[in-house]
Amino acid sequence: MTWDFSNQTAIVTGAAGGIGRAVSLGLAHAGAFVVVADMDRDGGETTVRQITDAGGAATFVETDVTDPAAHEAYLSAARAQGGGVDIFMNNAGWQGDVAPIADYPLDVFDKVMAVNVRGVFLGLRAVLPVMTAQGRGAVVNTASLGSYVGTRNLAPYIASKHAVMGLTKTAALEVARKGVRVNAVCPGPVDTEMLRDIEAGQSPEDAEALRKKRASSIPDGRYADAQEVADLMLYLVSDKSRHITGQGIHINGGSYAI
Ligand SMILES: NC(=O)c1ccc[n+]([C@@H]2O[C@H](COP(=O)([O-])OP(=O)(O)OC[C@H]3O[C@@H](n4cnc5c(N)ncnc54)[C@H](O)[C@@H]3O)[C@@H](O)[C@H]2O)c1
Repeated sequence: MTWDFSNQTAIVTGAAGGIGRAVSLGLAHAGAFVVVADMDRDGGETTVRQITDAGGAATFVETDVTDPAAHEAYLSAARAQGGGVDIFMNNAGWQGDVAPIADYPLDVFDKVMAVNVRGVFLGLRAVLPVMTAQGRGAVVNTASLGSYVGTRNLAPYIASKHAVMGLTKTAALEVARKGVRVNAVCPGPVDTEMLRDIEAGQSPEDAEALRKKRASSIPDGRYADAQEVADLMLYLVSDKSRHITGQGIHINGGSYAI
């Protein structure tokens, strides 16, 4: 499907790589101006360069989503375009350590919650008033298959992604009559840096073997790539999904059917 987001402004957090970069490129390709927000300056600037090299328009804003002021900074960059904020991909996330609950470091638990729950909450808190004031807008939070099922040794990450669904549903209800939709994507394993870090933690001796085994346990036999998740996100912020809100949409090759 070909999308048209021309004359729209989008903000993407966690846009320095993986899913966030893929969706930033997709939005820009479809004509949106993209505010690339991430704490990783090199990666974020690379995303902007890839967009502009392809003829699109974007700017980078160094953003730590745990900091309320950072959300105001990317909003200012979006508003500097002269319009409102049409699209918000509330996507930044961090996996934390791989360890059983009994051994899990408390400071890492706090950091996972700060990025994945506080960060998503602060994003909604900053962007939703702008969208409701203009009477239009679409938000996608990046949740996970782990928003619905557990994974051993990733308790804070899994708990945080369950929380993202709670935020998604609540936010959707609060703005449903104000022209704004809020949904979440819930990917199974996606072939990104984050997943490789998780696999290295789960199987330091042979992450590649774990990877093959896990991929073969997925009904369609493989991981998603970031582009496939980005395509779903584009659908969810397009007018084609105008009656969809408050949902977590699964993309996992059939894993949730098992
Ligand atoms: N890869 C998977 O298998 C998978 C599956 C389900 C959900 N997700 C979710 O997808 C989203 C994107 O992850 P990805 O797989 O593309 O991994 P990734 O590591 O490539 O991307 C995560 C991005 O978030 C950024 N980030 C981390 N902490 C931040 C902070 N405090 N402030 C701003 N930016 C921060 C990182 O710099 C990075 O660019 C995450 O929310 C992740 O939890 C990933």
